[in-house]
This record gives sequence, structure tokens and C-alpha cells, in this order.
Amino acid sequence: MIDQLNAILKDAEGTIAQASDLKILEELRVKYLGKSGAVTEMMKGLGQVPADQKPQIGKVSNEVKNKITALLDQKVQEMEAKAEQVAPAGWDPTLPGRRLTAGGIHPLTAVQKDIADIFRGLGFDIAEGPDLETDYYNFLALNFPPDHPARDAQDTFYVKDRVLRTHTSPIQVRQMENKKPPFKFIAPGRVYRNESIDATHHHIFHQVEGFLVDEGVQFSHLKGILNVFFQKFFGNEIKTRFRPSFFPFTEPSAEVDISCIFCAGKGCRICKQSGWVEMMGCGMIDPAVLKNCKIDDERYTGFAFGMGVERIALFKYGIDDIRLFYQNDIRFLEQFQ
Ligand code: PHE
Repeated sequence: MIDQLNAILKDAEGTIAQASDLKILEELRVKYLGKSGAVTEMMKGLGQVPADQKPQIGKVSNEVKNKITALLDQKVQEMEAKAEQVAPAGWDPTLPGRRLTAGGIHPLTAVQKDIADIFRGLGFDIAEGPDLETDYYNFLALNFPPDHPARDAQDTFYVKDRVLRTHTSPIQVRQMENKKPPFKFIAPGRVYRNESIDATHHHIFHQVEGFLVDEGVQFSHLKGILNVFFQKFFGNEIKTRFRPSFFPFTEPSAEVDISCIFCAGKGCRICKQSGWVEMMGCGMIDPAVLKNCKIDDERYTGFAFGMGVERIALFKYGIDDIRLFYQNDIRFLEQFQ
């Protein structure tokens, strides 16, 4: 009988170790310790055992019963501990999961990418420069005279002896200085001006600069490139118009208008009944800037342009307040997914 009991214990050790869930463990408990379980049956037979063997066999049956009970209990605990790792106490694993909302691309990022894609298609490379600039790159090398009002702290943020760049044009200088033409770049970046915030102004905004320098570059090339750009961006029906303007670093300089995309040039509230909206500044790079970059200004000419990303995004999406771009209101941003 003792051998039989030990055989049952051995069998139980194997089956319990292999049990993979609580239901199987409960079945094993019945199989060994239930009313007609293997151990219970053996104990029932104890009555027929000769008196002198009774204490010994009784002791072993009790040990086997206790060992199997302990094995079962231990296994149950292990399983519950594992289940808790997945779902800690107090969690209802049957509740539906929380849905993840997919993020989207910020409209300014999307517009900047669309602009870059068009110019990349026209053979332009992408350049970058630091946000914190020196006076030299932001102003002096770009032919701003020392007393130019843009240098005033009322317009420009100063950080110790540096300036937060007020435009992306310093990237022109950084790309060109001490290198040989041809150059054909666009340069996107964040820019800073000491402005008070309202629906159309913000002290931080974004520009995309573009510049091309080579032999024989003319104003007509600039017009051609910008025409293609605006038609690719806003549609083939878009017309452009160049108005004389002034920038210290371009000569001649122009302001580019496009036919109003809201009224197709007929005149509306957005274009103030003129049929045109201002889109960017541009011009032929002033020979003084080329000289500052040690480029032979007799041999090479170039054009440059700079546009505000926010302004283009406002028109593209028909938004009337620039502040919406920076408030991170999910209800606004969700509309661009
Ligand atoms: N840097 C000018 C601005 O911020 C834009 C510009 C760039 C004009 C290149 C001409 C050529 O207003």
C-alpha cells in the first residue's frame, strides 16, 4: 500500500506541475483528494489493514494527502500571481480597452513639407541654419546698414550678443560664403520678431527662404520659378503679380501677389476687394551680398525669395487667425488629419 501511495504522489507531482490553468487544477484536486479520489480511496481501505501496519500506512497516507494539497495550493498561487501581472487586482479585464487616437501632422508642418516637395521637384536642395544668429549673418552680411531700424530692439529679440534670427535670409550667407556657385537651395526655419500677438502677427513664425545663384540668372527665371510654385501649390488657375519693393539684400526687389484663391480675383473680403493677396518678398541678390560671400559678382547673379509659412497655411485652409496654429487645441488640429 505504501508503494501505491508513493506512486500516486509521484503521479500527482507530474500532473500538477504540468497543469496549465485553474480548471485543470480543480480536476486534479478531485482526482486525488475528492470523495472518490485516489488518495481518499486508499484511506477508505485502511480498515482492512492489519493492526500492526495501520499506524505506518495511516501516517504515509496523511503525508501524501498533505503533500498533494500543498502542491495544488502552491500551483494555484503561482497562477494567480501570473494573472495579476497582466491584470492587477481591481482591474476588470473584461472591460473594453481604451482606444488610441492617431496623431496627425500639424498643418504648418504639412504646408512646409508641401512647399519643400515642390521645390525639391524643381531641383532645389534643402539648407538649414541656427535660430540664434549673430548680427553679422542676420543683418550686416545682408547689406543692412548699421542704423537700419530692423536692428532696433523694438523689432528684434537680442540674447546677450546674439539675435534670434528675424528671417531665414542669413542661411543664404551661411550656405554661400567661401563656396563656389552654382547654389540652388530652399531653407525652411523658425523666425522671431518682437511683435505683439494678434490674429495676423505672432512673435514666432516660420519662413521658407529660396535662392539660386549661377551664371546668367535673370529676374525672368525668378518669375518663372515662382509662377510654377504657386500654380503647383494653389492650382493652375493662379496668376502672379510682381510689385516693386525694397529689401537691403536684393536689388531690384519685389513683393509677389497671387490672384485671390477665394474669389478667383473678382474681389472679396479676404483680398479687400482687390482680387490679389500678398504672398512673399523676393528679388535679385544684391551684388554686395555676393561680395560678402566672396563670390565673383561680375560673373554670377542670383535671385532670392522668402515666404511666410503661416500666411500660406492661412490661405490654403481658409483660416483667419494665426494664433490657432500655436494653441494646440485638439479640436482645431483634428481637422487636418
Ligand atoms: N527676408 C525677407 C523678410 O523676411 C524676405 C525676403 C527673402 C525678401 C529673400 C527677398 C528675398 O521679409
